[in-house]
Amino acid sequence: MSDRIKLIKGFQDVLPPQSLAFARIEQAAQEVFATYGFQEVRLPVLEHTELFARGIGLGTDIVEKEMYTFLDRKGRSLTLRPEGTAGAVRAYLEAGFGKGEAVKWFYSGPMFRYERPQKGRYRQFYQIGAEAIGYPGPGTDAEIIAMLDRFFQRLQVPGIRLELNSLGCPGCRPAYREVLLKFLDSKKAALCEDCNRRLNTNPLRVLDCKVEGCKQAVAEAPAVFDFLDDECQRHFAGVTKDLDIYGVSYTVNPRIVRGLDYYTRTVFEYIATDGLGSQNAVAAGGRYDGLIEELGGPPTPGIGFALGVERVALLIEEKGEEKPEYYIVALGAGACEEGIRLLGALRFIGLKVEMLTDGLDRSMKSQMKAASKSRAKEVIIIGSEELTQGQYTIKTLESGEQNTVNKIDFIKQKMIAFHVNNIDFGFKIS
Ligand code: HAM
Repeated sequence: MSDRIKLIKGFQDVLPPQSLAFARIEQAAQEVFATYGFQEVRLPVLEHTELFARGIGLGTDIVEKEMYTFLDRKGRSLTLRPEGTAGAVRAYLEAGFGKGEAVKWFYSGPMFRYERPQKGRYRQFYQIGAEAIGYPGPGTDAEIIAMLDRFFQRLQVPGIRLELNSLGCPGCRPAYREVLLKFLDSKKAALCEDCNRRLNTNPLRVLDCKVEGCKQAVAEAPAVFDFLDDECQRHFAGVTKDLDIYGVSYTVNPRIVRGLDYYTRTVFEYIATDGLGSQNAVAAGGRYDGLIEELGGPPTPGIGFALGVERVALLIEEKGEEKPEYYIVALGAGACEEGIRLLGALRFIGLKVEMLTDGLDRSMKSQMKAASKSRAKEVIIIGSEELTQGQYTIKTLESGEQNTVNKIDFIKQKMIAFHVNNIDFGFKIS
C-alpha cells in the first residue's frame, strides 16, 4: 500500500452534516438578500497581488503575513483572495460601472489566509459577503446591517450581538493621528517590532495588533470615535436612527478598528457571546468610500460585510438530513423492476425515496436492515404476491403497523397530493 496523501494543514473537507449546515446558510442568505434587492456575483479566487496590496493596505496583517502569493508560469505575482471586497470593486470597474452607478451585489465562496489554524479559524474558509457600491447615505449602512440581522434571525443564530463604530474619514484623521502618535510614543517600549515600524508607516494598525503586549499597551489609546468631524457625526447619527426604526439592537464600541485599511466611517461586527472561543467575530464589515478611487476608479462610495460560514455553522443547531419518506424493499427480479419504476415515479412527484438499486437480489432481512438504517418513515414492500395482485404492502417503521394498498390508488393519491397531473409512469393510470 502506498502512503496516504494528507489534507493541507488549516484546510478542511466539508462533509455531511457540516455540508448540510453550509447549504442551509447559503440558502438563507440567497433568500433574505434577494428581498433587499441584492444580486449574486461569482468572482475568481485568484487575483493580481497588487489588488490586495493596494486595496487592503500594505501595513495590514493580511497583506504582510497571511496571503497565499505565488508567481505564475509567466512570472506574474498572483494571490488567492483573502477576502471578497477588493475583487468585487475590481469587477465593478472592469464591467464599466465606473461612473458612480449603484449596484447591490452578494457573493459566496472560499477565501484564503495563512493564519494559525484553530477552532473557527482556517486557512481556507468560506465567506458570504454583500457590497452596496454607489450609495453615499447613512440609510444604506443601516439597511445592509438590517439585512444581515434578518439573515441571522432567519437561521435563529443564538447569542450574537452587533457592535458599531465610526472610523471617521480622511478629514478627521490628521487630528486623531497626532493624538494617537503621542500616545503610542509613550508606549513604544512595550510595542512589538512590527508595531514600532508601523508607528512611522500606519499607526492606526498598531491598534489591531494581536500580540498580547501590544494589546495591553493600547487598551487605553484614544479612539477615533471621539475625533469625528460634523459630517461623520451626522452620518453616524443617521445610521443609528435608521437602525432604531428597523428595530435592530446594537452597542457602540469605539474600540473596533478592523484589520483592513479601506474602512471609512461606519464599521460593525457581529460577535458571538458563546460557542466560538477567541474566534468570536461571526460577521464584519463597514463603509469604504475611498477604495474605488484607490483601485483606479472615480470617487464612489461603498459599504459591505462578510460573514464566516464555518463560524455560523458552529453556532446553529444541525438539523440533519431530511429522512426519506419511503424505502422500497423488492424481492425477486419482477418486483425489482416494479420497485425501480415506482422509485422513479415517486421521486418525479418530489418525494425523497430510497431503494437498493444495485441489482444484487438481497434478502428481505438485509433490505429491511438498510431501510431502518435510513430512518425512512415507511417501507413499501413488493414481493411476488403484491406483484400479481397489483398491490403494495406499506409498513410504518416506528409502529410496525402494516397494510396493503392498491398500487394505482396509491400513486394517484400521491399525484393529487403533490399536484402532479396525469403523468403515465408506466402504471397505466387513467
Ligand atoms: P473580515 O473581518 O476580515 O472582513 O472577515 C469577515 C468574516 O470572515 C469574519 O468576521 C469571520 O467570521 C470570517 N473569517 C475571517 N477570517 C477567517 C478565518 N481565517 N477562518 C474562518 N473565518 C474567518 C472582510 O473580509 C471584509 N471583506 C468584509 C467586508 C465586506 N467589508 C466590507 N465589505
